[in-house]
Order: sequence, then C-alpha cells, then structure tokens
Amino acid sequence: MPPDHSLDRPLLGYIKGSNLAVAVDAGSSSAHISLFYSELEKAGLPLPVLTVLTHSHWDHSFGLSAIHGLSIANCATYGHLVDDMNASREVLFHSYISEEYSFLRKEYPSPDSIIISLPDISFMDHLMIDAGGLAVELFQVPSPHTDDSTLVFIPSEGVLFIGDASSGEILSDKDLESGGRYEKSSLEAFISALKDIGAETVIHSHAEPVSAEEEISYLEGILAEF
Ligand SMILES: [Fe+2]
Repeated sequence: MPPDHSLDRPLLGYIKGSNLAVAVDAGSSSAHISLFYSELEKAGLPLPVLTVLTHSHWDHSFGLSAIHGLSIANCATYGHLVDDMNASREVLFHSYISEEYSFLRKEYPSPDSIIISLPDISFMDHLMIDAGGLAVELFQVPSPHTDDSTLVFIPSEGVLFIGDASSGEILSDKDLESGGRYEKSSLEAFISALKDIGAETVIHSHAEPVSAEEEISYLEGILAEF
C-alpha cells in the first residue's frame, strides 16, 4: 500500500510466498493497519502471518498492537520500543521529532490513545524467512537514519525494502523537508551495505521505488559533499 504523505504514513509492504505472507512495517496506528488489511481482503489476499519492522519510528511501529500474526524486529528496534513503552504517553505525544510536527497528533486524538506493543521475535544481524518458494532476507545494517535499521530483501525479485534507512536523521520539521542530517561514517556504511546486498530495485517507505543504481549514486552525491 503506497505511502500517504498527508499523514506521513509510510508504505506497507506485502510479500507472498506459497506458504505464508510477510508484511513490511506495522504502520502508524490501528487505523492504518485496518486500511491495509481491508485492501488485502479486497484483493483476495490472505493476511500476513509475519510483520517485519524496518525500524522503531512511530509511523512504522505504532500499529503493532493491531496486526494479524507475529512481528519480527532487530534487537535494537525492540530496545527502542521498550523505551517508548516506558515513556509517558504525554511526553511521547508532545515530543516526537518536535512540537511543530503535527502528524502524530493527526493520527491520535489524545496521548492515551497511543498503544505500543513489542515485537514477538527479535534477531541480530541477519535472518532468512522461507515464505514457501520465496526467500525473504532481513539485514540489520548501519544507516544514517537510525541505529536500528532492518532491510527486507527478496533475492529472487531483486527487490529491497529499505524503510527510511537512506534518509538522514530527522530531528526537526526542517530535516523532514530536506531529507535529514547525514553523518559521514553511517552514510558510507549504508552505501557499502547496499552494494553488498546487490538489489535491483530499492523501495523507500516514503517515496517511489527507484533502481539500486540511482539510489547509490544519489547517496554517493551526498557523500561527496563531506
Ligand atoms: Fe523513520
């Protein structure tokens, strides 16, 4: 399901093997997940058995309590969600990115309406899921966006879901518009991980799919500015 820029909702991915379906990200809220599942039902597709989180940011994880089946995240994402779970909802509601960032408040009428759940399964570094005639590989990689990025790769299709991993760090509304603040070493490490994986198509959660070549050359352009 494509991203919805009016609510800063990321895309929700769906990967179907002959045995099970895997979703990419749990979305912003139960409303976001309900919309996704109603689209799957309309298309006659089974609900996902597994949902992989690309990272802990609210728009990718706060719908977790409403998912069907089990969820998977890397250990760092799990840790960030434990922190969010233990934080006051009032603080979370008013401090996510900045006071001016209104998308969280558009999704949730009040602090109490935010429900945070923890992933059922956690992994470190790498995990392979056999979806039935279709491999789905999860890679935990360094990223300029967060310290908890998971990339979801379907080798037979050459498709790589990267979450927000190619964006810079977002600390303000300005960063959201500019694509974020980049730090050289994490950007270098991310480009190197992208090259190692060898995908053909890269899908960023808030943008249109692009070729891996285009993505790498865009990121190398940013790197050249350091
Ligand atoms: Fe993010």
